[in-house]
Amino acid sequence: MTAAIEVDEVSKRFGATVALDAVSFTVDVGTVLALLGPNGAGKTTLVRVLTTLLVPDSGHARVGGFDVQKDARTIRSMIGLAGQYATVDELLTGRENLELVGLLYHLDKELYRTRAQEALERMSLASAGDQQVKTYSGGMRRRLDLAASLIGQPPVLLLDEPTTGLDPRTRNDLWGFIEELVAEGTTVLLTTQYMEEAEHLADTIIVLDAGHIAASGTSDQLKDQLGGNVLEVRVTDRDDLDRAVSMIADLGSASPRTNPDLNQVLLPVTDGARVLIAAGRALDDEGIALDDLGIRRPSLDDVFLAITGHSASSSDTNPPSTGSTHD
Ligand SMILES: Nc1ncnc2c1ncn2[C@@H]1O[C@H](COP(=O)(O)OP(=O)(O)O)[C@@H](O)[C@H]1O
Ligand SMILES: [Mg+2]
Repeated sequence: MTAAIEVDEVSKRFGATVALDAVSFTVDVGTVLALLGPNGAGKTTLVRVLTTLLVPDSGHARVGGFDVQKDARTIRSMIGLAGQYATVDELLTGRENLELVGLLYHLDKELYRTRAQEALERMSLASAGDQQVKTYSGGMRRRLDLAASLIGQPPVLLLDEPTTGLDPRTRNDLWGFIEELVAEGTTVLLTTQYMEEAEHLADTIIVLDAGHIAASGTSDQLKDQLGGNVLEVRVTDRDDLDRAVSMIADLGSASPRTNPDLNQVLLPVTDGARVLIAAGRALDDEGIALDDLGIRRPSLDDVFLAITGHSASSSDTNPPSTGSTHD
């Protein structure tokens, strides 16, 4: 079977910046791959290569078996792209934007009118379809952008940070739409800075960091790679935090991480039960009062931090929801 997307040793530089460094992976038909990484990781560069908008310095990429450089026209007819920044025209109505896309796909008038109406309904935009886009909220624009990517009924969808900056409810709606499309057989490659999004939608996650693949697998496989659990300590009194860290640091398999806002220390551990008891004793001997002490499975945030040494989301683009996922 042909993979829907094949990326083979693709590299791209911009001057001194290595945006992509020999990146290789495949996406099977009907599955979802998430490229997870912070700003500047190379996500958009890869999407631009796959959409034939950017020629790589070296390597090959194929969509549906077609080469992005040799068969650019064919590929453009079989992909839908929703970008990081909504690309719809402000002065047109939502419906006019969608019909314009149909025109660009050389669809018959009757067909693109029907598809525009269907796409509006699907994205819950039917009642706003005849309003100018400049009256739309950010979430409506993003939905319209996604609707536009569906007009050609493409078998492969490329979504570049589809939910960045959206409120949690709109983001959940969008996740639902994407899941419906996947259930119908669409292959999706999406980029994201949000662990939750990758975990929720993706069959396979690729952690992209500074242009190279730092890790890949299902979210469970990535967590297993960390080879253990996380000891979570919450001190009652913030002033005790540093002392608590120094008491337990030696018990871990890697450096502890503190979260001062939550009075929290997180410590990667391999022998959870033993460490839990040892930490409890050590902290008690020191007279440090605790609100919480426990062992949990690592979150994808822990994984990302362990792999790359920094957090996935940059501070100016935190998800609108509250913090990291715990499971
Ligand atoms: N057209 C360009 N000219 C110069 N540098 C670029 C260009 N496009 C991207 N870059 C650089 O390449 C790196 C990867 O960028 P990008 O693919 O946009 O990352 P992401 O989408 O993950 O935030 C960044 O360091 C960015 O500044
Ligand atoms: Mg980007």
